[in-house]
Amino acid sequence: MEFSQLIESRRSIRKYKAGMKITEDQVKVMIDAAIQAPTWKNSQTGRYYVALSEDKINYVRNQCLPPFNAASCENVVALIITAYETKRSGFERDGSPTNELGDKWGVYDLGLQNENLILKARETGYDTLIIGIRDVDKLRSGFDIPDSQEIVSVIAVGVRENDAEKPKRKTPEDITRFF
Ligand SMILES: Cc1cc2nc3c(=O)[nH]c(=O)nc-3n(C[C@H](O)[C@H](O)[C@H](O)COP(=O)(O)O)c2cc1C
Repeated sequence: MEFSQLIESRRSIRKYKAGMKITEDQVKVMIDAAIQAPTWKNSQTGRYYVALSEDKINYVRNQCLPPFNAASCENVVALIITAYETKRSGFERDGSPTNELGDKWGVYDLGLQNENLILKARETGYDTLIIGIRDVDKLRSGFDIPDSQEIVSVIAVGVRENDAEKPKRKTPEDITRFF
């Protein structure tokens, strides 16, 4: 798919088709796209935990998401938990933050990776929903995520039932100042 069409046709999808499937290899293609994103000093601190089995998908849906987000995840084929190793991206070798943003650089890097992931999902016939409202303690215990990693989002993956309307966007003039 052509790049502009890819970014235009990606939408946050909250209603997925029943009976769809995905393989580990197909998810790896999305994660490999994530890995190609730029990161602070190539630190690549993004980490991914993929619920593929019915049991694990149901655990995330029923235990780790509020009901409105769980409802959006009916019929998903995978739920990808995204996290990053803290105190590396944005930090010096001696452990001190390079500047005032500290660990926010880890979140920045993960966001760049996650955009690649969701666009690759779209290109390969899947749709996604990034979920920021989730229970990190239950995600941590259910997937054995170490305390050295900050859990950020859950990305739902499935096949859209219908096209979704595009929420209104600002214009370049709204958000840019040229000098
Ligand atoms: C960091 C982040 C967190 C989000 N969390 C949620 C969420 O918890 N539940 C939800 O339904 N949508 C969530 N969204 C989706 C946004 O509402 C959506 O991206 C936005 O309305 C623009 O729509 P679009 O993705 O279709 O362009 C989240 C998106 C981002 C980037």
